[in-house]
Formats: sequence, C-alpha cells, structure tokens
Amino acid sequence: MSLGRKKVPFMNLPTPLEYLSNISRELGINLYLKRDDLTGLGLGGNKLRKLEYFLYDAQQQSATMLLTTGGLQTNHGRLTAAVAARYGLKCAIVVVDDNVDSTAEDTYAAIGPKPEASVEFTGNILLDTMMGADVIAYRKKADVSLTEQYDKAVAETKKYYEDLGEKVYVIPMGGSNELGMLGYYDCARELTEQASSLGISDSRVITAVGSMGTYMGLFCGLKYIGSPLSLTGIQIMPYEESIRAYAKDYFDRVKKLYGFDFDADKSDFHIDDAYYYDGYNNPVEEVRESIYKMARKEAIILDPCYTGKVFNAIRQMIIDRKIQPGETVIMIHTGGQPGIYTPVHQAAMEAELKDKVKIIK
Ligand SMILES: Cc1ncc(COP(=O)(O)O)c(C=O)c1O
Repeated sequence: MSLGRKKVPFMNLPTPLEYLSNISRELGINLYLKRDDLTGLGLGGNKLRKLEYFLYDAQQQSATMLLTTGGLQTNHGRLTAAVAARYGLKCAIVVVDDNVDSTAEDTYAAIGPKPEASVEFTGNILLDTMMGADVIAYRKKADVSLTEQYDKAVAETKKYYEDLGEKVYVIPMGGSNELGMLGYYDCARELTEQASSLGISDSRVITAVGSMGTYMGLFCGLKYIGSPLSLTGIQIMPYEESIRAYAKDYFDRVKKLYGFDFDADKSDFHIDDAYYYDGYNNPVEEVRESIYKMARKEAIILDPCYTGKVFNAIRQMIIDRKIQPGETVIMIHTGGQPGIYTPVHQAAMEAELKDKVKIIK
C-alpha cells in the first residue's frame, strides 16, 4: 500500500541490484543495474510495478477486461496482456501506428477481421496475441493529431467490447497517470534500502523517460523519504512541449492528489534531452553498439527503444564529463527486450552481426 492506495502484489521483489564489474572497469565508474527486467510476468519490465495498482483498481470496479493503448512495439501493452492472462481478465490493446497496412477508407470502420489489412508483427504483438489479447490496430492518419486519434480509437473500442457485455477498465498509454506513478514511488524506497545495504550512499539513479510515470514515481518517492540518491532521466523520444513543463504539470497533479509536503520547480527535474537521436524507437548505430557492449561484457540484453538509449547515454555522459570518473551510477533496467525483434531493429543488427555466423559449405 502506498499513500493510501492498494495494489495486488504479484511481482518478485526486491528485484536484484547488481554490480557490473566488467563494464565498470571499462568505463571507469561504478555501475549498478537495478534488474527491473526481472519483475516476473510476461517477460517482465517496468510497467508491472504500475500494473499492480491498476489491477487492484480494476478488480474493485469489477472489470472483466483491461484495455490499453500504444504503438506496435508497446511493452506496456504486452505487460497489460500478461496481467490480464494471469488474473483471468480479457485484454485489448489499441494500437495506432504507421505500420498498419489497412486499405479501409475509414480506419474507424467497424472492428472486425479485414482480410486485406495487415500489421507489422513486432516481438510484442506476437507475445500479446500469444497471451490471448486482442490487438485493435488503426493506421495512423497524417492529418489528425495523435491524441485525437488515440482518444477516438479507445472510445470506439471500449464501446465495442461494452456492447458485447464486458466491463472495460481503461489504462492510459504507458500507465503513466497519478495512480501508475505509485509503482516507482514504492521502488524508490526499495532501491534506497538496497543501495544502503550495499554501502552505496550518494549515488545517481538513471532511468529512461518515456511517458514519465517511472521517472515521476522515483522523483517523488526519493524526495518523500529524503533519500541520498539523486535522479537523472534520459529522454528517449521527442516531446511536443517542453519536457520540464510537462514534468512540472505531472508533479503538480500528483502533489495535489497525494498532498506531498514538498514542492518542485521545473529546474528540479534533471532530464537530459541530448541522447534520443531525434526519434522514438528509431534505429541508431551508437545505441546498437551500446547494446552489443552490454551483451558482450555482462551477458545482459538491452533494447533499442529505451534501455539501449539509456546505457548509450551513460557512455556518452562519461565522454561529455556529465558523469565523473569513479562516480557511482545505478541504471534502472526497465525491460523491453522483445523490441530487438521489431523488424527494423532486427534487420539492422543482423546486417552488423552476420559475420559472426560462419557458414560451413
Ligand atoms: C522498456 C521500457 N523502459 C522504459 C519505459 C519508460 O517508462 P515511462 O513510460 O514510465 O517513462 C518504457 C515505457 O514504455 C518501457 O517500455
């Protein structure tokens, strides 16, 4: 229970906090990895911490179905599908994406099989459907704002399932609202206690910033308990508005709801925007190099969309002197590994790695 809100605790906690000796030696820092890729269900990842709270809320409302939304590679969708499968709920994931090939004139036409349409089967879509979720795919329209498209698609899909008799519980994209942030609010205490037991006092925690629930939860949790750990976010995608203005607005909403007795200004949000390479989930050579580095030195697999960008940012920040030699850094491994099977990433990696396969004629 956190701030008076209950959850269904289904994860194996605490997740390990591991010292990466090979990488640390090479980079000249002390790098620890918080293994939130090992959270349990459906191949794991950060979203399960948020989903413990959403599941409780959904059960309280007697929901029969979880509905969430995202792009074709959404990890949050996969983990929502996992939780639904484990707890006997139905699940639908509403996807709005460029890689939906539908010839339907109106993509908001009735939901149903369209033999002429297809979607790019990313690793996550494969897992979603394997775990029994329905994926409702809409082709992204160029002339309508994305928010508007998502809102319409979610409303339409919700009504479709309600007409079939389901009680639908809607979880926002990325699970990043006032309730979802509580997952990482709790994690702040878990991490602080683990770090302290390892004798780590003043370390910097570094995590990805996507829809921001992970960052905001950690930010508020660390502040609330007066943790000696500081926090840096790595922006992994473009934001339509200033990311610090977005953070301030999100913070004000949670502060109002939970009545925190501390405040925060835009300048308190340490979010580095220098390492997202102008895109979301875009193939980036440097990021792939960082993924190979981690795999070859520590046998830990990162993903191209989030954790690869974060580890690449850490390597660049050392070069850019934003991280000092000898500094202790805790990176959160937020999961996302199925992302390596997204066709564009898999093809790029295959081209770079194919020489490691020796074909015997
Ligand atoms: C693997 C992974 N890491 C990090 C993030 C970012 O978390 P947040 O959306 O809470 O900022 C996501 C979000 O989708 C994710 O799937």
